[in-house]
Amino acid sequence: MSTTFTIDTATSRATPTPAPMKRLTVPAIQRRKVEGRTDEPLVMLTAYTARQAQLLDPHCDMLLVGDSLGQVIYGLPSTLPVTLDMMVAHGAAVVRGSYHSVVIIDMPFGSYEASPQQAFASASRIMAETGAAGVKLEGGAAMADTIAFLSQRGIPVMAHIGLTPQAVNALGGYGARGKSQEEHAKILGDARAVAAAGAFAMVVEGVMEGLANLITDGVDVPVIGIGASARCDGQVLVAEDMLGMFERVPRFVKRYGNMAEMVSDAAAAYAADVRSRAFPTDDQVYRPKI
Ligand code: KIV
Repeated sequence: MSTTFTIDTATSRATPTPAPMKRLTVPAIQRRKVEGRTDEPLVMLTAYTARQAQLLDPHCDMLLVGDSLGQVIYGLPSTLPVTLDMMVAHGAAVVRGSYHSVVIIDMPFGSYEASPQQAFASASRIMAETGAAGVKLEGGAAMADTIAFLSQRGIPVMAHIGLTPQAVNALGGYGARGKSQEEHAKILGDARAVAAAGAFAMVVEGVMEGLANLITDGVDVPVIGIGASARCDGQVLVAEDMLGMFERVPRFVKRYGNMAEMVSDAAAAYAADVRSRAFPTDDQVYRPKI
């Protein structure tokens, strides 16, 4: 099968053009947490397209091709209908559009839960066809065997615990987790289990701040928070949320832009120019040179 990514010059003699910067690696990300502490927090954003990756890459340590693309790009009601084909296509685009960040690709619902062998088949396809550095999968202790199976076979795994959107039907919604003592203990156990299984890092989503702090202090791999705590070893957001692409702003999101308004204003100005024949002007038409 042909691959769609450009081979990194650091690992191949195939292309002589040096990349402008060496790509970070999974071990380099892991080494940022020393004796349970990360001095400079890790920066992670989602990216789904090559151009978006080009713009975000210089500012990030990791780019996540999240299955949130189902909702953000495809207008799906949840992440459940996202397919492996979608993740591979968008993952390859993000790898092509970046040269610095570690690119991690979400394993979609139904592609890994049945067995470690099923997970290996899906994850190895993702790795081979995109050139990404690792995969992310949702689930805690129940996924420990699968995380160990993949990690021992050369596939770096980022775990995802707490609020796991692929389990929305079992959880009953997207509310914060870890409020009851029972749930608090389960999520703490999940964090310990995925770290012991060999996850190189974990996303902790939508949990009580105190629980996120306990997890961050209690495992020796980087903990990337979303709706978790400022004390985490890093933070991740869906880029479109952070850029202000949507009207609804979840509690855990801080907006750093107003892209929805910018796009809408630009489209309105273009439409007005077309309707009044103000566009195109002399500058945008072809005429014979005299
Ligand atoms: O799919 C995704 O974008 C994610 C992040 C929100 C962590 O899993």
